[in-house]
Amino acid sequence: MEDQKDLMKIYFAPLEGVTTYIFRNAYSEIYGHVDKYFTPFITPAEKCPITPRERKEITPENNKGINLVPQILTCRSDHFIESAREIRAMGYEEVNLNLGCPSGTVCAKGKGAGFLKDTSALQSFLDDIFSYSESDGMKISIKTRLGFSDPEEFYALTDIFNAFPLSELIVHPRIRTDFYKGEIRKEYYAYALEHVKCPLVYNGNIFSVKDYEEVSGTFGSTPDPVMLGRGLVSDPDLSGKLNGSSSETDLQKLKRLHDTIYHEYQKVISPDINVLFKMRELWTYWQVLFDGKERDFKRLFKAKKYPEYEETVSRIFLTE
Ligand SMILES: Cc1cc2nc3c(=O)[nH]c(=O)nc-3n(C[C@H](O)[C@H](O)[C@H](O)COP(=O)(O)O)c2cc1C
Repeated sequence: MEDQKDLMKIYFAPLEGVTTYIFRNAYSEIYGHVDKYFTPFITPAEKCPITPRERKEITPENNKGINLVPQILTCRSDHFIESAREIRAMGYEEVNLNLGCPSGTVCAKGKGAGFLKDTSALQSFLDDIFSYSESDGMKISIKTRLGFSDPEEFYALTDIFNAFPLSELIVHPRIRTDFYKGEIRKEYYAYALEHVKCPLVYNGNIFSVKDYEEVSGTFGSTPDPVMLGRGLVSDPDLSGKLNGSSSETDLQKLKRLHDTIYHEYQKVISPDINVLFKMRELWTYWQVLFDGKERDFKRLFKAKKYPEYEETVSRIFLTE
């Protein structure tokens, strides 16, 4: 067995609607192997740094034993700071800024990947939030894309980021118009490896050990830490596989993950159909693990009541 300290660091990417506190708790209890989790973004507004719903997601009470970094999406430094202060008061020492969200409504407001277009506004925003960071002892990391419409924007962005004491820079090597599709723009990540001064985290399209090895081959070094999103939801054993502690996907463990999340959602969400909507979203990731169950999945995605859903889930997990 490898020594614990030799294991590569794995971060769980934030996936809005998917990596909720209920998901994180279930994953951490059943699988472990994740060094840091990021919350899906919170969006502070005037006089409302954190909504009650967002607070529930972040509060340490709901994230026991989980190394969590709350994420903020905004282009207003006063909103960021008010929100970060509240997060600091909850006991957190790091907050993450979202500069990657590609959604049309978010970008139209100049937030997420939309903020990358206006580098002078971004620079003064960073001036403000890093002055705050110093005064409050709050670390700030950034999760970014390469640019808004052209990956070459990344050169100027790198210079801007290098002027501030970021605790980490997580790079998803795509531009906004790529959304989450197509090839990763690896050559720009290679540029980041050479020029970014703060600790760097790779994120994007790692669905298997082979994908990780391919990325490592391209860069001539293993990305560590690595942030995994869709790949880790689709195959929750991926973190164990990358660290050599599991060799295949354990469907019984997945069943435990499923059952835990399902029962926990039932306690906090109603009516039934809303719990089933949450579960269906997870199944869009998990279904790749099951062959020859197309008819069951058709039924599962249509189920409106618990008994029908539960019976279908049992059939999906039944191995011949
Ligand atoms: C459904 C969905 C929701 C997401 N929500 C967030 C979010 O709240 N904050 C964020 O920084 N990124 C978000 N992302 C982006 C992921 O964190 C990650 O950067 C992206 O999926 C690429 O990594 P992957 O290829 O490992 O999935 C989201 C992506 C998806 C598909």
